[in-house]
Amino acid sequence: MREKIKEIKNEIEVFSAKSAEELEQFRIKYLSKKGKLSSLFDDFKQIANEERKEVGSLLNDLKNAAQEKINNLKQKFEASQSTVGNDTDLTLPADAAEIGSRHPLSITRAKIVEIFSRIGFTVSEGPEIEDDWHIFTALNFPEEHPARDMQDTFFIHKNPDVALRTHTSSVQVRTMETEKPPIRKLFPGRVYRNEAISARAHCFFHQVEGLYVDKNVSFADLRQVLLYFAKEMFGEDTKIRLRPSYFPFTEPSAEMDISCFLCGGKGCPFCKHTGWVEILGCGMVDPSVLENCHIDSKVYSGYAFGMGIERITNLKYRVKDIRMFSENDVRFLKQFSSVI
Ligand code: PHE
Repeated sequence: MREKIKEIKNEIEVFSAKSAEELEQFRIKYLSKKGKLSSLFDDFKQIANEERKEVGSLLNDLKNAAQEKINNLKQKFEASQSTVGNDTDLTLPADAAEIGSRHPLSITRAKIVEIFSRIGFTVSEGPEIEDDWHIFTALNFPEEHPARDMQDTFFIHKNPDVALRTHTSSVQVRTMETEKPPIRKLFPGRVYRNEAISARAHCFFHQVEGLYVDKNVSFADLRQVLLYFAKEMFGEDTKIRLRPSYFPFTEPSAEMDISCFLCGGKGCPFCKHTGWVEILGCGMVDPSVLENCHIDSKVYSGYAFGMGIERITNLKYRVKDIRMFSENDVRFLKQFSSVI
């Protein structure tokens, strides 16, 4: 037994590993469960009592020596790996940072705001959680009136006075209540309607509304401003047409179509062979809305218009499914990076 211990001690002392794999082989050979030392410890069970103390301590020394050898060699390999094995070339240029792109709806919103700002419109925003007065009552939707069904509403309290705004016309009211004419403003923002989600409708979307209140504002002013907008947004050749419509807060009211920019008005599948595509609602501010906001309707008149940002974006970039705007799929979003 002592002979064997001496022999193995020698083997351990002279051992030197050239690689981490070789060191691992060494560990298995000596220190694993089936290794040389384990079998020595097995033999130790048969040893005579008077020899136990001395041989036991020799065995322990041997085990420690083997462990120490392994630790030392391991450290050596680790240290060399972190310098020799490191082949990063610090003089190489860094990876280019990927630049994100603006959301298509933000691009359209910015474009709309830019077009109107050239003729003196400035931007105001208001809260998305609104009270009944600003969403409906001040805008001439009387309580219980069926016109309220035009916009399915999300109420967020048991108290029906608080809701998510269904249109940005609420900001028209807030502006007229606090500012004196002349008022020439744009109101962009998110609106909510309780509608089933599909390719063409969503429970939230975005609008930009415009409002102009001053002395002697006429329907002709409205028409000319909308024609200017349509040409700037969709191209110089664009024509507009106004169809009579109904909104509780404008009188008269109209819906505006633009000539189809794909077929130039001749008729194609895109415009359902009509030559026209609808893009917004508009009208002269109803005098009772002005009065509700403490503006004298005998002195002042105004026009308002409102459009969906998704709708304009769909038309401009031919996006067929409105849900894509809120899915955050970068494969979709990054296609708009060059449009900025
Ligand atoms: N608020 C209307 C809507 O959401 C749009 C509109 C705005 C119509 C201003 C006329 C004037 O449908």
